Amino acid sequence: MDRNGKLKVGIVGAAGRPRIFKSALEAHPRAAVAAICDISEERLEQAKTHFGPCPAFLSYESMLEQAGLDAVIIGTPMHFHVGQTLLALERNLHVISEVPAGVSIEECRKLAEAAARSKGQYIMAENCNYMKPHMTIANMVRSGLFGELYFAEGEYLHEVKPLNESTPWRRTWQTGVNGITYGTHSLGPILEWMEGDRIARVSCVGSGRHYADGQNRPYGIEDTCVMMAKTERGKLIRVRLDMLSERPTALNYTLQGTRGCYESVRHELLGSGKVFVKNGESDKHEWADLATVGQDYIPDIWQRMPESMLGPSGHGGSDYVMMTDFLDALTEGKPSPISIHRALDMTLPGLISQLSIKRDGEWLDVPDSRAWCGDTACG
Ligand SMILES: NC(=O)c1ccc[n+]([C@@H]2O[C@H](COP(=O)([O-])OP(=O)(O)OC[C@H]3O[C@@H](n4cnc5c(N)ncnc54)[C@H](O)[C@@H]3O)[C@@H](O)[C@H]2O)c1
Repeated sequence: MDRNGKLKVGIVGAAGRPRIFKSALEAHPRAAVAAICDISEERLEQAKTHFGPCPAFLSYESMLEQAGLDAVIIGTPMHFHVGQTLLALERNLHVISEVPAGVSIEECRKLAEAAARSKGQYIMAENCNYMKPHMTIANMVRSGLFGELYFAEGEYLHEVKPLNESTPWRRTWQTGVNGITYGTHSLGPILEWMEGDRIARVSCVGSGRHYADGQNRPYGIEDTCVMMAKTERGKLIRVRLDMLSERPTALNYTLQGTRGCYESVRHELLGSGKVFVKNGESDKHEWADLATVGQDYIPDIWQRMPESMLGPSGHGGSDYVMMTDFLDALTEGKPSPISIHRALDMTLPGLISQLSIKRDGEWLDVPDSRAWCGDTACG
């Protein structure tokens, strides 16, 4: 803690994705940015301008050694998440890591073991869980409005070919591996709705290859990959990932239960979506606007947020809400809002899908990270 009793937060990859967290960090009464790090000199300069005066480092290890931190936000490319998280957890620092948790099953195993040993909390920053319609639907599910859930879909359709040129790590890790490489945005909210359940088996197939990169090298991955998943309790989930096809961006979710269903708006920021909830014995199947019928289910954290903060912050305000919730949890000693096992429940199915697609869609078991640590609860 700093001399004002605030949690000292360091940020690595500070010039990239974590820039969006500045407003939540500044507004939080019990946390402060204590150091920033970026491996690129030019980008570190940009981060200094953005975050204001604080110690700045080109080396992550030096930041951990010298800045006296309590927590780190890891916003580097996907393949650095686990290595950097392990270094922080070994020092008993709290970690807020960008998605996905890791890029291989072996990495995920090391991560689970390190989190079990550490006094630091691990939190995965799956911001889609914090989108207002998703949190509202979660409250409606908990109230039993949809009955027993048995089916859900999530789609992440985001053409990144130009982004691949400016951030080449994407070419390798997001669009260089066939299967679901970036599936947590889809699975995060769905697993939140299906609380207490996890994906036990997956099968993954693709649509073929139709695109080349900036150097005219054909992409080795299939344009659209679809993963079918069965949960331990027998529910069915379909995830579609497409980061190559020529089309506007869309995030899409559906949910079906025995008494009702939800369909999101097919748009990046989701709007409000529509729901059907079976009313008494009526046979009428009519949509209602989530913004209207969901009013009483909007979570407190969204009600508390000042409108002025939500407007300019990322992903419709969900980045602000998410970081506020994480900092609240860490400073009030509450459990991780997205714990290591829940993070791996969102990450591991995608990694197993990458094996399944190589085997023509063979159904494969998804390991349960709790078993790696001798834990049983599906928390
Ligand atoms: N949750 C979301 O909505 C969301 C959105 C975008 C990106 N992401 C995730 O955030 C991460 C970063 O994505 P991005 O778009 O900011 O990428 P980016 O390439 O734009 O930025 C990454 C930054 O990290 C720095 N960096 C790279 N390697 C480093 C290292 N070893 N040590 C210190 N700094 C290093 C780079 O110089 C760069 O400034 C990725 O894991 C991505 O999956 C999440």
